[in-house]
Amino acid sequence: MSKHKRYTITAALPYTNGSVHIGHLAGVYIPADIYARYMRLKGKDVLFVCGSDEHGVPITIKAKKEGVTPQQVVDKYHNIIKTSFEDFGISFDNYSRTSDEIHHNTASEFFTKLYDNDKFIEQTTDQLYDADAKQFLADRFVVGTCPKCGNDESYGDQCEKCGTSHNATDLINPKSAITGNVPSLKSTKHWFLPLDKYSNFLKEWIVDGHKDDWKTNVYGQVKSWIDDGLKPRAVTRDLDWGIKVPIEGVDSKVLYVWFDAPIGYISATKQWAEQQNKDWEPYWKDEDTKLVHFIGKDNIVFHCIIFPAMLKAEGSYILPENVPANEFLNLEGKKLSTSKNWAVWLDQYLIDFPNKQDVLRYSLTSIAPETKDSDFTWGDFQTKNNSELVAIFGNFINRVTVLTHKYYEGIVPKSGEFTSIDLGTLSKLAELPLEVDLLIEKYKFRDAQTAMMSIARLGNKYLADEEPWKKMKTDPERVKTIMYVALQISTVLAIVSEPFLPFTNQKMSEMLNINNLSWSNLSSDCSKLMHEGHTINKAELLFEKIEDSQVELQTNKLEESKKLNELANEKPEPIKPLIEFDDFSKLDIRIGTILEASKMAKTKKLLILKVDMGMEVRQIVSGIAHCFKPEDIIGQKVCVLVNLETKKIKGVESNGMILMTELSEGNLDFISPSSLSVSNGKTVG
Ligand code: MF3
Ligand code: ZN
Repeated sequence: MSKHKRYTITAALPYTNGSVHIGHLAGVYIPADIYARYMRLKGKDVLFVCGSDEHGVPITIKAKKEGVTPQQVVDKYHNIIKTSFEDFGISFDNYSRTSDEIHHNTASEFFTKLYDNDKFIEQTTDQLYDADAKQFLADRFVVGTCPKCGNDESYGDQCEKCGTSHNATDLINPKSAITGNVPSLKSTKHWFLPLDKYSNFLKEWIVDGHKDDWKTNVYGQVKSWIDDGLKPRAVTRDLDWGIKVPIEGVDSKVLYVWFDAPIGYISATKQWAEQQNKDWEPYWKDEDTKLVHFIGKDNIVFHCIIFPAMLKAEGSYILPENVPANEFLNLEGKKLSTSKNWAVWLDQYLIDFPNKQDVLRYSLTSIAPETKDSDFTWGDFQTKNNSELVAIFGNFINRVTVLTHKYYEGIVPKSGEFTSIDLGTLSKLAELPLEVDLLIEKYKFRDAQTAMMSIARLGNKYLADEEPWKKMKTDPERVKTIMYVALQISTVLAIVSEPFLPFTNQKMSEMLNINNLSWSNLSSDCSKLMHEGHTINKAELLFEKIEDSQVELQTNKLEESKKLNELANEKPEPIKPLIEFDDFSKLDIRIGTILEASKMAKTKKLLILKVDMGMEVRQIVSGIAHCFKPEDIIGQKVCVLVNLETKKIKGVESNGMILMTELSEGNLDFISPSSLSVSNGKTVG
């Protein structure tokens, strides 16, 4: 069907400044993995590469924050990220890193070739500069208003809201992300890739050439940028973390991270080829190779405009056939955020749900943000597991394997003549893989997974209609045919589910004892996939129910994050004007113990307290009833301002004031001494 015999599949290199979460998986790595596994299943020559994106400002910022070197940051997170991907069965042929020597060399050579062939414009211009930080402000070091969409949190190189890339000097009201200063201008020399010169090429290639096969969200954005007019972009930076600009006499400048990172796909290929003793070039240079980039929507401009322009300028590379970028995933209705800890981290997930990788893979694929942003909720996760994986997929395979053991000691029985129901089922069975095939070719993984599940649904319905467990008593001969057909359905499911549920598939293939089947075994006749006399192995459960309590644990964790965020977000009140020391020493603050507490009738907030001050017991009215129950604070040590004039509150006399601290709006706590002794200690400065 497809003219391509080789597939180079790339997944965006994650920044190495944090762990990966469900948003990364759903948007990029699971779809890429399904595609790669599927093409392998079809017998294609597949290379699936990724790696850590270890340069750029995000890493430097993280290092500063943690008080370590950028190298330490990337070493730590590279390992965490790599392990997470392995744990979730993301089947990269190579997961590389951009700090590897092979990448430094590849990127430098790439730059040098463009430089030697006069593909860059060399220009000295005024750039944003932070005099206090003694640093030029590029990329994420500067924040301002996007000239295109008005988002006031745009970075220097890209606005994440509208996706546009721009020059830092285009920002309106720029501010340094390091000091908050308004930047000054300072002149500096850089090398620019004149994107304007590639405008016609990009227009012909994408706007005219891929109108129908690229996703509308990708195509639309790219077209609008080209229509707006492209401008030269600097591909070098005044930074010290990165790949040194390979020009004689140029110091303390590095390649722009978005220049070096996509070349990482090429370096990862070279590294893999060296290990495998293969030639890397066909994977990037032969016309019969299909190059596909899996990315999130914030990466579109780099993969559809800048990197292709670089490849074109270099001259010897193929271009991507498709860039199936996804929109974003939200979590329980809110944007995923690393800094706000609003995320489900993959390493954490596996602690709470060990061996349940496929459940997450499945639920994320079922809501993949393919055409618009989508929302992950723990409730939906539970439903997808309990009502689909357990009730449909698991149930079907379990019935088939258990009954085969019960009736035939695990040996596939000889089928009798097929009834019209059998024939109808078998013909539907042959159609479903074709549906999956078509959908995967179109990058519609959600629908493809649904079509895969239809195979299990078909099997369930077949068993429910045919009821072999009833017929066993009346017509055991017929049951042989029913079980034979059910085993064929199981076999198809075991082939087709592999890209989606690789862990389950492994178990299932062992159970059915069919480790060597692939897509090519499927044909218009699916009635002879598993032969009479073949022995299957012991039946095991593939999925188990997820309980409400497990879901609650997760939602509680999110509640906790929400609270912490609210606390962190509250702006501290401005400090009141200075007072003299004498003012302070007028306050007589002593320690007391609450003896009695009762709510004041008809009020929400007031408690009437009796406080033992040592030499006397005071009655104090305190507005803390919304935070504490009377019975819970008996015996509580408190600080009391004892020389406050007596006041009547709602007719009740209050003689002093309990000192409290406000943790957040309306949320009070006692200021209490750490020592247990009941001194009636007084204020000292
Ligand atoms: N690190 C980038 C991000 O997380 C993606 C880089 S993709 C590559 O958004 F093409 F540069 F490799
Ligand atoms: Zn914008």
